[in-house]
Amino acid sequence: MNESEEKNRKLVADGLKSIWFPFTQMQEFTPEEVLVIADGKGAILRDTEGREYIDGVSSLWTNVHGHRKERIDKAIRDQLDKVAHSTLLGLAHEPAIECAKKLLEIVPKGLTRVFYSESGSTAVEIALKMAFQYQKQAPGGDPRKTRFISFTNAYHGDTLGAVSVGGIDLFHATYQELLFPTIKAESPYCYRCAFGASSPGCRHDCLRQLENLLATHAHELAALIIEPLVQGAAGILVQPPGYLKRVRELCTKYGVLMIADEVAVGFGKTGTMFACEREGVTPDILALGKGLSGGYLPLAATVATEEIYNGFLGRFDEFKTFFHGHTYTGNPLACAAAVANLDIFAEEKVIENLAAKIIRLNQKLHPIVTMSCVGEIRQRGFMVGIELVADNITKEMFPPARRIGHKVILEARKRGLIIRPLGDVIVLMPPLCITNEEIDRLCDITYDSIRAVVGD
Ligand SMILES: Cc1ncc(COP(=O)(O)O)c(C=O)c1O
Repeated sequence: MNESEEKNRKLVADGLKSIWFPFTQMQEFTPEEVLVIADGKGAILRDTEGREYIDGVSSLWTNVHGHRKERIDKAIRDQLDKVAHSTLLGLAHEPAIECAKKLLEIVPKGLTRVFYSESGSTAVEIALKMAFQYQKQAPGGDPRKTRFISFTNAYHGDTLGAVSVGGIDLFHATYQELLFPTIKAESPYCYRCAFGASSPGCRHDCLRQLENLLATHAHELAALIIEPLVQGAAGILVQPPGYLKRVRELCTKYGVLMIADEVAVGFGKTGTMFACEREGVTPDILALGKGLSGGYLPLAATVATEEIYNGFLGRFDEFKTFFHGHTYTGNPLACAAAVANLDIFAEEKVIENLAAKIIRLNQKLHPIVTMSCVGEIRQRGFMVGIELVADNITKEMFPPARRIGHKVILEARKRGLIIRPLGDVIVLMPPLCITNEEIDRLCDITYDSIRAVVGD
């Protein structure tokens, strides 16, 4: 065993002894599975033994312009020479101001106020609390409106409010007694339609059901929360065109606030800067995270309309203040990274250059579509879900104990690709900076890895 292998073995052993890894069955997490990342550049990550991998899920859907992007690195270093942290509770600092200004220039029109936090989950918690408190005290609110409507298959994070509006049993059912009850509408998972419909012939029963629920519960609903265009964590479930726009129309019709959770889909992942843009939708509250700092540092934002914001104004002793704020809210280093991230989007015309790469990704996925174990490939921009099935006629799933998705990603690792499955859905979501050659390799390795586990 050479020196770097020796060092790696010790790191793995120490890691397994000291860290409780997230979303991981520790009893089955073996030293062979622990990959220790040492550094990265662009869309490539390298482990402690010098092996290179394409970062096929952009470090959990965060990375945008690549690792060690000079401009973002420099922005953080420059800020480090000034101050690493100062609070936003009663004080301000330049990076937070700059970042908010730039963000408001690009979010859907009508959103005017930025409230910072550190993670997608907190951005969602804040959105829920804002909507709730708005209804309680704002002139345009209604204190009887205390409930939320959310979707089956939804994922909005792991804190209890976010879990309450979640809809994935595997992650959420255990905590049922701790959660506030919500009203659930069926999400459009068209491959496995809850109403038994198929396209063509779909009569949009999911939208009809949503309208019925809104009509019945409008008097008690504070807000609806939705992942626009794509339900990510459920397995990249892509909504049909026009769906989001219709949801916005229904919210307006029934006087229910609309919260758009763009934590996963924001910052170019679907091909436009924000998913809402695609259907000309402005939500009342927008939750952002992940890509906001370019995938560098924990930063999130909840962006509200002026009307929501105004609902919190008043003399102090009216107690309308939004009593919420985390210790590291709007951290200067993270905001400096975000400012550089947004500048790169504009100056390098990142969104404009994306279309050709999205087409290439689509074309390179074609051989995978033809594999008999592939039920469906769903792609929206740079977000791809490959649903593996035991039988692609009956859509029968593999028994969970076989851990097919997990096996596929381990095969991919051997071939130089880091990806992460959602059950038996193989997710690809590379950084936007990925090159054409890397896109080809990403798809080739995915094909070979699926083939190695389930055949073709
Ligand atoms: C749509 C959506 N909302 C919220 C979250 C939670 O974000 P975080 O993990 O940063 O708390 C996620 C995470 O994947 C997400 O996909």
